[in-house]
Amino acid sequence: MELNDALEQRRSVRVFAREAVAKEVVDELVHAATLAPSSFNTQPWHFHIAMGSARDRVIAVISQTTQYLEEYADVLGPEGTEFAARFYADLGGAPVVIGVSTPAYDDASERRNAYIAVGASIENLMLAARERNLGACNLTVPKWVESELTEAFEIPGERELASILIVGVPAEEPEPRGRRADVATFLG
Ligand SMILES: Cc1cc2nc3c(=O)[nH]c(=O)nc-3n(C[C@H](O)[C@H](O)[C@H](O)COP(=O)(O)O)c2cc1C
Repeated sequence: MELNDALEQRRSVRVFAREAVAKEVVDELVHAATLAPSSFNTQPWHFHIAMGSARDRVIAVISQTTQYLEEYADVLGPEGTEFAARFYADLGGAPVVIGVSTPAYDDASERRNAYIAVGASIENLMLAARERNLGACNLTVPKWVESELTEAFEIPGERELASILIVGVPAEEPEPRGRRADVATFLG
């Protein structure tokens, strides 16, 4: 697949077929993630991959998120809130749930660099998934259960959970979400 096609066709997928993803394929996705740039090549990312019974343990924690969704009721609307409640109960059936961690930097500049690099690695992984006809979604909403998730992903004390990624065979074809046009200003 051409890179530009992957960029144009990638969507956040939230409904998955009950189909496993082979470990070798997950390894390829992680490899793509590690090709991302990072400040001084620090490669701050680590991928904590939950599949099978480990995935079920992580989902049991994330599903507690449903009780907090009221906070987003205004943004999501009634239908969106209902969908979110169903989605967070089982993450759309995604067979692979990945916690992405970075070192827990105190320094604001180091932390910013780490998060930018992690974001780049996540996008690489999502594009590599798209190329393999897999779907993925980046999640930060389950913030209320962050410490429980840190434990469930077995993230060591000197690191912090930056984001969660879910991956699987898509069982939906989401419409493209609109993009703002007023995003660039040419100076001078
Ligand atoms: C940092 C970040 C956090 C996100 N958190 C969530 C989330 O918690 N739950 C969710 O359903 N989608 C989440 N998303 C996916 C966005 O909703 C999605 O990227 C956006 O609506 C644009 O849709 P698209 O990815 O299909 O183009 C997140 C995306 C990013 C980049």
